[in-house]
Amino acid sequence: MSATPETTPAEDTARPRAPLFTFGLRTITEAAARAAYDWIGRGDKNRGDLAGVEAMRGELNRLPIDGVVVIGEGEKDEAPALYNGEQIGNPAHSVQFDIAVDPVEGTSYLAKGMTNAMAVIAMAPRGTMFEPGPCFYMEKFAGPPAVKGKIDPAAPVSEKLRVLSREIGKPVSELTVYVLEKPRHKRLVEAIYDCGARVALYPAGDVAGALMAAIPDSGVDALMGTGGTPEGIMTACAIRALGGEFLGRMDPQLATERAAVTAAGMDTARWYQTDELVSSDRVFFCATGITTGLLLEGVGRDRFFEKTQTLMVSGVSGERQFLTTYHKRAEAGPAA
Ligand code: FBP
Repeated sequence: MSATPETTPAEDTARPRAPLFTFGLRTITEAAARAAYDWIGRGDKNRGDLAGVEAMRGELNRLPIDGVVVIGEGEKDEAPALYNGEQIGNPAHSVQFDIAVDPVEGTSYLAKGMTNAMAVIAMAPRGTMFEPGPCFYMEKFAGPPAVKGKIDPAAPVSEKLRVLSREIGKPVSELTVYVLEKPRHKRLVEAIYDCGARVALYPAGDVAGALMAAIPDSGVDALMGTGGTPEGIMTACAIRALGGEFLGRMDPQLATERAAVTAAGMDTARWYQTDELVSSDRVFFCATGITTGLLLEGVGRDRFFEKTQTLMVSGVSGERQFLTTYHKRAEAGPAA
């Protein structure tokens, strides 16, 4: 990859540069997705995750930047991970980026051969991503650009749906809210039903759900509920670039996590705005489907090719692009 996301006075006029960089980033999530493909439906989430991690690490280290992983994963699930603080690329490079990764977003569901597993990366200039400390879980609200700055996340569900309905011009009865299907969301789901709106319940994958919510007319109008904090930071990067709304509140679920969050003095009542979760517009995001979900098609394979579908988003250009690629398989040999 030759393009770099350099900060120059001409950055806003040099529009091809940032999309080109995002285009190059896709190789990282595509490599992770293709490696994890072998572990779909084999009941072994750690080996699936490890395959994604190793493939992603190999590609990351080819990046022409000085990068540091600030949001890895693994601590919550004690899974193999790109670890926080891991140096990526070339430390001597003048372009310094923070990197958030999830080589397999939806590890259990990859192992079970279920929907919505994908490989994800987000990048933003050094020091611009929120550091969640010991908090693994975050309550989230995601919605389209029309509701940016208009939702009070602490308001009752009925009020949030009323504002959403007004701003996007759709009756509440036609709204669809994406919610992870978890016992902790029983009351949330009931509250949405009570308002007459629809709920799209998925067992995993709140990154996909939030991105759908931020993309108008995607079939999902909002995401509500609690999921992973790393996923939340990556989502904030993508949604900042997409121009949508993303709000997050630390919401520890585990006893040890609660104790650590309290000890760290974190305010669990405070809702963070998108630009507090990532404070730069120079954000880059890529996600490649592993198993087919609402947002992306999963990896497909035949004798000669592997097919991937990737969403690329650049905060610099404000562009998003879905790209389907047929990768020639090494074992396929030269074309006839
Ligand atoms: P994993 O990659 O850790 O399996 O995450 C899948 C996911 O569904 C995320 O989309 C979501 O943010 C998180 O898990 C919710 O965590 P939990 O399943 O522990 O409630």
